[in-house]
Amino acid sequence: MLYDLPTILDRIEMPKLFPAAQPLEVELGCGDASFLVEYARRNLVKNFIGVERLLGRIQKLDKKGRRNGLTNVCGVRIESAYFLEYLLPKQCATALHIYFPDPWPKKRHHRHRLINEHFPMLARAALAPGGTVYLRTDDADYFQQMNEVFAAATFFEKTETPLSLAEITTDFEREFNAQGIPTLRSAYQLKLMAG
Ligand SMILES: C[S@@+](CC[C@H](N)C(=O)[O-])C[C@H]1O[C@@H](n2cnc3c(N)ncnc32)[C@H](O)[C@@H]1O
Repeated sequence: MLYDLPTILDRIEMPKLFPAAQPLEVELGCGDASFLVEYARRNLVKNFIGVERLLGRIQKLDKKGRRNGLTNVCGVRIESAYFLEYLLPKQCATALHIYFPDPWPKKRHHRHRLINEHFPMLARAALAPGGTVYLRTDDADYFQQMNEVFAAATFFEKTETPLSLAEITTDFEREFNAQGIPTLRSAYQLKLMAG
C-alpha cells in the first residue's frame, strides 16, 4: 500500500499505484491515515493517495489499508509541496485534503506553513477543473491565513464541506475535540473557468 518512488524527478504513473482508473483524491500530511482509510473504505469508486513525511506514520496507512483489504488507497512518503509541484501529474486530483497541518505558531516560523501565498497556485496545478481543497485546523491564526490566501486567489471560490466528509474525523481532530477545541473548517473550489 506504500508506493516506493522509483525517482523523484518524474511524475507518478497512476496505473502503478492503483488497479482501477478512478477519480483521485489526495491527503497531504495524512498522519496515522485513520481519516484516509475510513474515507477510502466508504468510497471504493475513488482512489486516494496519502502523503506523509514520517515513516512511522505512513506505515500506519499500510497496516490499516491492508487490514481493510483496500486497493484504492496508497501512501507516498515525501514532502507535501514537493509532491504537488513535481510528482503529481497535472490536473489529476478531484480533491485535496489538508487536515491539521503543523501550525508553526511562532510568527518567525510562519514561513514553514504549508498553506501560504504560494499554495493556491500549487493546488490549482494539481486539481482537475472544478476540484476542491478541503481544510481543517484547530489554530485560529492559521485558519485566518488559509482563508486569506484562498480569498486572494481569484481562481478559487468558497464552497461547503459535505456532511459525509466532515463526519469522518482525523486522529488530531478527535484529540482536539475531546479537549473541547472545535474544528475550524473551510473549502475552496477551483472555478470552472480558471485556465
Ligand atoms: C499535526 S499532524 C496531522 C495529521 C493528520 N492530518 C490528522 O489530522 O490527524 C501533521 C502531519 O503532517 C505531517 N507533515 C508535516 N509537514 C509535512 C510536509 N511538509 N510534508 C509531508 N508531511 C508533513 C506530519 O508528519 C504529521 O503527520
